[in-house]
Amino acid sequence: MDRIVFAVRSPLKLKLAAKRPAIVQVGGASTVLQTLIRIRLQASNPLIRHCFHTATVSKMPQYKLTGVDKSDLKPTFKQEVTVEGLGDTKLLLVQVGQNITALSPRCTHYGAPLVKGTLTPSGRLKCPWHGACFNAVTGDIEDAPALDSLNRFLVTIDGDDLVIEAEESKIREFSRAPTYTCKQAALEDDVVVIVGGGSGAIGSLEALREYGYEGKIVVLSKESYPPIDRTKLSKALITDPNKIAWRTIEFLKGLDVDFHPSTVVKGIDFEKRFVETDQGRIFNYKKVILATGATPKILPLKGFKELGNIFTIRTIDTAKAIVDAVGLEGGKKIVVIGSSFIGMEVANFLVGKKHEVIVVGMEDVPMERVMGKLVGASFQSILEKKGVKFYMKASVEAAEPSSSNPSLVGSVTLKDGVSFEADAVILGVGVAPATEYIRHIPLERDGSVRVDESFQINGVKDAYAIGDIATYPYEGPGSLPDSVVRIEHWNVAQNSGRSVAKHIATGETAGFFTPIFWSALGLQLRYCGSTVSGYDDVVIDGNLEENKFVAYYTQGETVVAVASMQRDPIVMQCSELMRTHAMPSKTELQNGSDVMKIQVPN
Ligand SMILES: Cc1cc2nc3c(=O)[nH]c(=O)nc-3n(C[C@H](O)[C@H](O)[C@H](O)COP(=O)(O)OP(=O)(O)OC[C@H]3O[C@@H](n4cnc5c(N)ncnc54)[C@H](O)[C@@H]3O)c2cc1C
Ligand code: FES
Repeated sequence: MDRIVFAVRSPLKLKLAAKRPAIVQVGGASTVLQTLIRIRLQASNPLIRHCFHTATVSKMPQYKLTGVDKSDLKPTFKQEVTVEGLGDTKLLLVQVGQNITALSPRCTHYGAPLVKGTLTPSGRLKCPWHGACFNAVTGDIEDAPALDSLNRFLVTIDGDDLVIEAEESKIREFSRAPTYTCKQAALEDDVVVIVGGGSGAIGSLEALREYGYEGKIVVLSKESYPPIDRTKLSKALITDPNKIAWRTIEFLKGLDVDFHPSTVVKGIDFEKRFVETDQGRIFNYKKVILATGATPKILPLKGFKELGNIFTIRTIDTAKAIVDAVGLEGGKKIVVIGSSFIGMEVANFLVGKKHEVIVVGMEDVPMERVMGKLVGASFQSILEKKGVKFYMKASVEAAEPSSSNPSLVGSVTLKDGVSFEADAVILGVGVAPATEYIRHIPLERDGSVRVDESFQINGVKDAYAIGDIATYPYEGPGSLPDSVVRIEHWNVAQNSGRSVAKHIATGETAGFFTPIFWSALGLQLRYCGSTVSGYDDVVIDGNLEENKFVAYYTQGETVVAVASMQRDPIVMQCSELMRTHAMPSKTELQNGSDVMKIQVPN
């Protein structure tokens, strides 16, 4: 490629309202000579601070897209196409308004085929599996849980052909780094301190740089590694953080993020604006984001605090402790207490490793309160087929010591007199917000922090709380004007971090995002919405015995939450319909309304 680049610091008086970088293309992309004017916008300032334009003369290879007929194109069209001359290489051809682009075809989170996702008229391309959302015009990442963006190629129509110009390596690339509009702190005195190194933290720091925040970013995390995919811990008991770390510390350094692992915050002074670590170090801040997640509960019953081989799961260390105790070769007796998602997932994993697993739960069926009796029973049946035993409607009395080693657990006894032998016990009995370092402000009864719609802590200046510790106003379907929620979902933490980043960098409050959750119970469960104000009925579409269904949780006529198994992408489509208040009513669903046929409004 021949490239001539010249930059002109010209005072282009473009009164553009846009706050994100824009690429304006002049000339046809099908021509070999291409001129691009790039207008760099200062994201934290609505006025343009500096502009430059570059002219690029390129001899980029051209590729024809095959497997599509030009006459099929129309707004919200999406189809996988093959790139002629590059074997089986595929791209996703999409049309949004008049924009026709070709995108990397797989989600940058865990590789779902985006052609099976949802494309809205405004250009939100939503992954069918866990809800990541990309801008279909630019390929930029917009919503959790993915972090990276998609490669994007402009498509031109040349006669009957659809053509892109691009380097082969780019076409083959699965993803690209997000468009960070600032990668180097320029404002010495402007510091955001993030407390915590999990989902909320990674969402905040990435989006701060995407939105062009120019100050310093300091992250203080109790864990000894950079943010990991915590959701994998109960699904696969991963013991090596490198296998599930979202970013390396070096990568974070490249974003000028000062990441402090193994650092415990023990106090925060909201008046003087600093946090203090247990080593006595002080970190001053201009804004602080609290994202400390939750601490698993331990049963306050005889034996549970004293005996060894009783575990919870939250960190790599806890997963490693379980693997060290029971191994992955089977043959151990494991009692899982609590038929929560985490308990069910770890039971599913360990039975797959040929251990004898029994789940002890208080409800009639697992997850009855959240998912209802029918759906909960269907989850139980999946795990039973794999060999997990259930003992439900049970109340635990004590953990008893092992006769061969009294420092370790040997059995669990129940109030009804039944006892189960146990080489190990895993507790999935809920969590409490990790807020013990926050004093001098009132906390909610559950220990969480009350925030407003921008996730700013009520009554405290320049302080935000996100993720598992935040109780925030809920605007989703079924909510009342004063509804608040605290939701323990990965996407909620990461997206609330993105919302805070936007507020800090631009002063704007991000809009409502529909809560999304997933679980792996042998089959993949998807869930969106919230039953914060309860539900009074469940409309089932499909077959619960075959675990192939959609469950609509309704309050009166309003659908407040949707769960599914083996019916992608219905839940993700519903999450977009909920976001835009366009979900059909209960009666419409009962009369056969097909949510996949409803166009998501702009
Ligand atoms: C095993 C497991 C499986 C899960 N599976 C799913 C799933 O499949 N789907 C889903 O949607 N959700 C799932 N979740 C829930 C999801 O992981 C959480 O909702 C999410 O991680 C919350 O993000 P957060 O940033 O609030 O907290 P976290 O991700 O927990 O991060 C909190 C961070 O703060 C640190 N910290 C705590 N106290 C201090 C302190 N005093 N000083 C410094 N650092 C501190 C912690 O060490 C940690 O690094 C799962 C959770 C667990 C534990
Ligand atoms: S694979 Fe797309 S969000 Fe997970």
